[in-house]
Amino acid sequence: MQHSTFVPESPIECAALHAFVYRKMLVHNKWRIIRLLTLVGLSLLLVLLILFIVVMSRTFTLKENLGLQFAQWENTTIISADISKQQREVLLANFKAAIRIPSVSFSQTHQNTSALREFDQLLRRVFPNVFSSSLVKHEVVGNYSHLFTVLGTDPELVPYMLLAHIDVVPANEVDGWEAPPFSAKELNGFIYGRGTIDNKQCVMGILQAVEYLLERGYVPRRGFYIGLGHDEEVYGYNGAVNIAKVLKSGGVKLQYILDEGLAVMDGIITGLNGPAALIGVSEKGQATVKLSASTRLGHSSMPPKENSIGILAAAITRLEESPMPRLFGYGPEQSTFEHLAHKFQFPLRFMMSNLWLFNPLLSRVMERRPDMNAFVRTTTAVTMFNSGVKVNVLPSHAEAFVNLRIHPAQTLQEVLDLIKSTISDNRVKLELVDGFDSLPISSYDEQSFGYQIIKKTLLDMFPQVTVAPSICIGNTDSRHYMDLTQDIYRFNPTWLRPGEPERIHGINERMSVQNYEEIVLFYFQLIQESDIRILPPSHTGQHEL
Ligand SMILES: *[C@@H]1O[C@H](CO)[C@@H](O)[C@H](O)[C@H]1NC(C)=O
Ligand SMILES: *[C@@H]1O[C@H](CO)[C@@H](O)[C@H](O)[C@H]1NC(C)=O
Ligand SMILES: *[C@@H]1O[C@H](CO)[C@@H](O)[C@H](O)[C@H]1NC(C)=O
Ligand SMILES: [Zn+2]
Repeated sequence: MQHSTFVPESPIECAALHAFVYRKMLVHNKWRIIRLLTLVGLSLLLVLLILFIVVMSRTFTLKENLGLQFAQWENTTIISADISKQQREVLLANFKAAIRIPSVSFSQTHQNTSALREFDQLLRRVFPNVFSSSLVKHEVVGNYSHLFTVLGTDPELVPYMLLAHIDVVPANEVDGWEAPPFSAKELNGFIYGRGTIDNKQCVMGILQAVEYLLERGYVPRRGFYIGLGHDEEVYGYNGAVNIAKVLKSGGVKLQYILDEGLAVMDGIITGLNGPAALIGVSEKGQATVKLSASTRLGHSSMPPKENSIGILAAAITRLEESPMPRLFGYGPEQSTFEHLAHKFQFPLRFMMSNLWLFNPLLSRVMERRPDMNAFVRTTTAVTMFNSGVKVNVLPSHAEAFVNLRIHPAQTLQEVLDLIKSTISDNRVKLELVDGFDSLPISSYDEQSFGYQIIKKTLLDMFPQVTVAPSICIGNTDSRHYMDLTQDIYRFNPTWLRPGEPERIHGINERMSVQNYEEIVLFYFQLIQESDIRILPPSHTGQHEL
């Protein structure tokens, strides 16, 4: 082994040599580094290029509007939807009469039952054909809810069901209403009143459509049910639950259910061109959790270092400071944005078409807005905090309630486990008051009967809308019907423009006269469309043949 070939004689020589060797090494290394950098740069460029091609091709080839709108549909809409001027006035008067009845649900045990009785009278008065037709069987369920069974001529066809609810949340004029909330006053083409968009437009819209159809001699081929609950706003335990029981005991199976839920969003989704009709194919789950801490009772003159209020407050602070994980893109909201992607303006179009890549970025932007954050994660809201009885007594007990809305990519149990580990204090007791997982995702492909019927009816009326499946942030009566069908859709063609979603359960809830007529027509067409025996073969399918 050679140790050294050159032994320097003086320190100066030594330094010179070092410098020389060092320079040579530098030059040599410089080339190596340049070559390495070039290689890395080129590979990076290649990766970027591939990524760009994938992103671009997904942006332009993503199935823009999965659906059967180009297919050959059997024509079952043979009864004309023409409404005379005089009929229009009657239709509007019926709707206003419904708004004027204050069918308020104050709480689970307190509802305006005299208003609910009055509502029953109204329905019988304004829809005489519905109540006298031999095709329609009517039952009162749970004292104030209604179930209509409409017979079809073909017993082979599996029936479907339309749902809506009669009750409304409370409303007080003093909160800032432009018109009294139970006046149904018309201002600039809008009818103002509690229930105009949640949900009497559907109650009256469905029955008005059936009234017209029966009046014009319609006989359905496919049977259907109409369920009108009277306590949806307070969980539906007397109305929807009992209607579902009646159907279950009769062994009924349903092709699909259409309930309230989502709407046509016009100018509400940032960056989207044109209106979007969002059809709810699932609902977030829910949990109400009670947290409590107990310490010894005592006099405030000799306080311990911590008492129940402080312990619980610290736990709540930890909960608020560590939100549930971001799950955007792992639930049905991924499909929503992919279906809408082609209607987004440019940088957003890339991102929406490639959620697999842009998820982390998008969810960080979205979580800043509370309404968008609801799509990103399970939300946590502390809604009640109670403790203390006297200014000079240490509180022995403190309790708080937390309301969570569960993202479909998480289970109720996972959420509870996370709360426990976030609080990580054994002195805080955790109790589940009530809760349920997010609801199963209904189908929305080309074989999905209900989804495609709803979509076709919509596109025939409003060709300008883009239809997409989505998830309801709130809950509806339809969850009580889960055992009767696989496919529940939550939608009605109420047009919501900026500022309007806030009117639901808020002040100045209103519905335009034109939009109410459209809702009647929508059900009028939908009922006839549902008479087709099977869906047409898909357009894409025909190409492959
Ligand atoms: C379907 O029937 C209605 C009513 O007869 C008619 O107006 C419409 O043109 C028909 N559509 C087709 C495509 O045949
Ligand atoms: C209940 O409804 C009736 C109409 O049926 C109405 O006269 C009454 O004021 C309502 N009560 C409350 C507390 O809203
Ligand atoms: C219906 O009314 C009767 C008599 O008032 C009452 O006993 C019963 O509990 C009510 N049922 C429901 C489901 O509210
Ligand atoms: Zn509602």
